[in-house]
Amino acid sequence: MEKHHVEVLISEEQVDKKIQEIGDMISRDYAGKEIHLVCVLKGGTFFMCELAKRITVPVTLDFMSVSSYGGDTKSSGVVKIVKDLDEPLQGKDVLVVEDIVDSGRTLSYLLEMLRDRKPASLKLCTLLDKPDRRVIDVDVDYTAFQIPDKFVVGYGLDYDQRYRNLPYIGTVEFD
Ligand code: IMP
Ligand code: MG
Repeated sequence: MEKHHVEVLISEEQVDKKIQEIGDMISRDYAGKEIHLVCVLKGGTFFMCELAKRITVPVTLDFMSVSSYGGDTKSSGVVKIVKDLDEPLQGKDVLVVEDIVDSGRTLSYLLEMLRDRKPASLKLCTLLDKPDRRVIDVDVDYTAFQIPDKFVVGYGLDYDQRYRNLPYIGTVEFD
């Protein structure tokens, strides 16, 4: 691993405050309904747990894991389901929880696939959004933070599987 260090971009307090705001917004928007949260492993887990704790309407949870086809590390946009959801989505108000929307390739494919399962509604909530990097348009319903085109870690996001557990969001700086 190349020599590097991590610099704080968004502090733990800022992230916590924003997640509370989004939780409040979601609770208002879904008043009288039940939300089925779909977490995309592994990056979405930290955000999903913190968000779910702050939502006041009834919540159920499910998880899925996807990987891009092909050897290239850049996502090809064709995703393979590594672990599928346990429950059907039909008739449910589904909210997909993601760590970051980057090119948008993975999510546009994933959302289309989930829409085929006939949920009552399908929305997307992301912790981070890098709008400058978008290749495929994705409708994001809830965004905690828009960030510049920098590689970030923490709060579920990794650099070679490290740093997911950082309680803040940091940038990886190469020394
Ligand atoms: P895309 O939107 O299909 O390009 O892929 C998004 C995925 O790439 C995310 O779910 C992350 O797993 C990963 N990713 C994109 N940007 C970053 C970053 O800055 N740090 C860590 N992972 C990232
Ligand atoms: Mg991801």
